[in-house]
Amino acid sequence: MRRRASLHLCMAAKPSNHLDAKFFLPADEFFPANARLALTFDDVTLATQFSEILPRDTVLETRLADGLHLNIPIISADMDTVTESRMAIAMALNGALGLIHYNMPERQQLSEVSRVKNAVHGLIQEPIKVGPDQLIGDVLHLIEQKKFGFSTFPVVDAHDKLLGLLSGHVLKPRYAKRKAVEVMTPREHVQTINKKKLGSNPIASADKFFTEHPGIHKLLVVDDEDRLRGLFTLADVERIMQERIAQFKPARDAHHRLICGAAVSATRTAFGDLDRERILKHVGGLVERGVDAVAVSTAHGFSKGVGDTVRMLRDAFPKLPIIAGNVTSAAGVEFLASAGASVIKAGQGPGSICTTRLVAGVGIPQLTALYVTSRAAKKCGVTLIADGGITKSGDIVKALTLADAVICGGLLAGCSEAPGEIVEIGGKLYKQYRGMGSFAAMKAGSAARYGHEKDTTRKVAAEGIEALKESAGSVDRVLGTLIGGIQSGLGYLGAANLAQLRERARFTRVSPAGMREAAPHDVVELKTGN
Ligand code: XMP
Repeated sequence: MRRRASLHLCMAAKPSNHLDAKFFLPADEFFPANARLALTFDDVTLATQFSEILPRDTVLETRLADGLHLNIPIISADMDTVTESRMAIAMALNGALGLIHYNMPERQQLSEVSRVKNAVHGLIQEPIKVGPDQLIGDVLHLIEQKKFGFSTFPVVDAHDKLLGLLSGHVLKPRYAKRKAVEVMTPREHVQTINKKKLGSNPIASADKFFTEHPGIHKLLVVDDEDRLRGLFTLADVERIMQERIAQFKPARDAHHRLICGAAVSATRTAFGDLDRERILKHVGGLVERGVDAVAVSTAHGFSKGVGDTVRMLRDAFPKLPIIAGNVTSAAGVEFLASAGASVIKAGQGPGSICTTRLVAGVGIPQLTALYVTSRAAKKCGVTLIADGGITKSGDIVKALTLADAVICGGLLAGCSEAPGEIVEIGGKLYKQYRGMGSFAAMKAGSAARYGHEKDTTRKVAAEGIEALKESAGSVDRVLGTLIGGIQSGLGYLGAANLAQLRERARFTRVSPAGMREAAPHDVVELKTGN
């Protein structure tokens, strides 16, 4: 009876919300109320809300630009100890995006992008083919040169008519002088399917074919004139069928290829002008290889050189998603958006290996920077990426209350897919992680990002350090843990997706004692949460 009465009172008093609203504020009240103090992730916490959402049912999709959709809102940093093709492939297979760094010759970056774009296929529409008179030695050379990860090649005549199949076991140096036609499996023994028979669900047709033909790993697709029209591989088909039941599907482009981004530099000529010809040629090459976005990545995006580069790229490639940054002010966002950027990168100095704030005395703690830039981005119709300073999944949840995706460097640098070797020190395993503004990285090519020349005989101030990260295992594992945390965050806020997270987020400041309370305390820790 008493309980009923108190329940009744509680309901009648309706504004429990009223009390909450005094303490837990939406972003547009909270950040202006704290305008004189720049805040970062640990300075705030999010209030929980009524929820009927189970974490596992939350959807983490994000749209960054037309043609650039991710199934999880995480991007691996364009840093030379974080993202090359292996990392980008792992990221895309998890529904995320990798940005290939530019501390390498342009040609090499093009082939890194190609590796991602060719990594997994459903129907390979234009398989690499060879002519009947091609020597096996030449084919071996091609495999080496183009770094093909496969070794089966259809043999066709000048009109694409299928003549046979070169399989891996004849591609050996001992047959180098033999012609393809002499060692290929002849046409009558090659399994094919007519394109018309693929029906409305080609992958399912291919899957059925492989089940009915044990031991066959390649299925060639031909037309009525027996011309080659495509190729299925068993491995690709199996992977795609498995992906269909995974919660977060790989991030793919319209041609079913994994998505991939690449960073580009605002390169200058010897006279100090933007090297327009070189930049356009490089980006043209990336577009030809199917890159899904380019990132004009610099430490100071609110600068003439970056604006000119973005404008030039926008004119030359009207539909290409262009990510540009970094900025931390509303004026910086407006500047890059008006130059033609579709996505803005926010963050100056929050990165785990950054020393910009110490060296140059500039930069804004990340949450305040995200609030200011997010409001400008909304006004300009562009999206926002929170770049740097993320050390745990809770930071990602907080960042996503303001931004459309996050960039992680340090959190991914210890993964086996990151470039570099694992080193053992004192019985523990580590991988190298360095700032792109560290001396070593600038020497390797990233000086332009910090407005310096590559010539290291000139004295420049490094804005990043060289460090180690504990070896963290696979990207699948690390992302799995991060995603679990993000989904929990959405569940606590009763948010089914990222749009609802932004609407329902209510912030409050945390005292230093509150910060201590948030981490494990007063216990002897036996196992970390990971
Ligand atoms: P996290 O915290 O994820 O940060 O390791 C990665 C981001 O840091 C930026 N970055 C730098 N910033 N000096 C800087 O001030 C540097 O040397 C440096 N290197 C990378 C970059 O935005 C990256 O995504």
